Amino acid sequence: MEFFASASPGTEYALLEELRDLGFRGTRRIPGGVPFGGSLSDGAYACLHSRIAQRILCQLARFECPDEDALYAGALACEWMPHISPDTTIAVSAYTAESAVENSMYASVRVKDAIADQLREATGSRPDVDRDDPDVRVFLHLWRNRATLYLDLSGAPLFQRGYRRTGGEAPLKETLAAALLRMSGWDGQTPLIDPMCGSGTIAIEAALWATNSAPGILRERFGFERWASHDEETADGMRRLRGEARRKCRGARPRIIASDVDPDALEAAKENARVAGVRLTFREADVMKLQAGEGRFIVTNPPYDVRMEAEPRFFQQLGASLLKQRGCTATLLAGTPLVRKCIPLEPVRADRIRNGPLPCEVLTYRID
Ligand SMILES: C[S@@+](CC[C@H](N)C(=O)[O-])C[C@H]1O[C@@H](n2cnc3c(N)ncnc32)[C@H](O)[C@@H]1O
Repeated sequence: MEFFASASPGTEYALLEELRDLGFRGTRRIPGGVPFGGSLSDGAYACLHSRIAQRILCQLARFECPDEDALYAGALACEWMPHISPDTTIAVSAYTAESAVENSMYASVRVKDAIADQLREATGSRPDVDRDDPDVRVFLHLWRNRATLYLDLSGAPLFQRGYRRTGGEAPLKETLAAALLRMSGWDGQTPLIDPMCGSGTIAIEAALWATNSAPGILRERFGFERWASHDEETADGMRRLRGEARRKCRGARPRIIASDVDPDALEAAKENARVAGVRLTFREADVMKLQAGEGRFIVTNPPYDVRMEAEPRFFQQLGASLLKQRGCTATLLAGTPLVRKCIPLEPVRADRIRNGPLPCEVLTYRID
């Protein structure tokens, strides 16, 4: 089977490295993610173990699509029946660009019609649509008149790990926090601190990684576990994968510190860490008084809102504080060019990514 692991823009290379470390072969990076081949069990393994992928999609068909009739015919030629029955609910989403069929909403309706017509023809009834919580999610990618149809193995996106109870101010997606950790060059062993931890996402993801805990282990189920084709055999396979993942967790871990100046944020971080089942050291502290200690990793996501452009003092003070952390490596998710301007060091690595709609840079500094 052909799969596609989708990634937040700019994190594709981190995802490629991760999937290679997980043992996937024949991977390559393309804009938006990483294609890879394997069995359904491999796709399930990726859902359970990838920290960075947003979704794992399974390719059903690829065809030329010069117009809307070709789209309908191509979708009708797919074998939907093993996965979709009249009792399963479906949702179809579409991305279209540089194609004759321009309207993504219309394109998704044509695919949905083809699925419904195929099932009605074969069984006499058709599946219902449930946009919010469907049993089967279908994706159409239509680019330069070339259509690819996918089934979504993950269901709810993989950043929904199942441990977040409270958000706090601008929480980071779990998958992005994991990408940040990988980009920082952290080895999973060295003590790490997030001095502006908010709801604790970076520190929790670090602890999950350090203890070799599968990021998807708290998820009750993935999308494919609701497909009509999910039977006793695949359910057994999934039980085995979850059991193996649990046995691979390690107790030993480096010290991971989550600190923030806001006590409410710390409460949220504590609650999220409790649900995630990880142990962190919490501190109520001002990042301007940080004493990280020699050789630590600092990975953090400073606050940002547009008013800060007019008042760069926060970032100047942050720059001065970071400069005192001799022997540390600091990685910052920077939502503004002010961060680069205010830190009087050259980053050893800089990656452009998007945090939702916000273009950001991931800047890594070695502080001597
Ligand atoms: C963008 S949020 C971090 C969100 C976090 N990554 C998460 O996933 O929830 C920035 C955090 O910086 C904290 N902060 C702001 N000024 C601070 C300071 N001087 N010292 C420590 N923390 C500070 C805020 O309280 C806020 O929780």
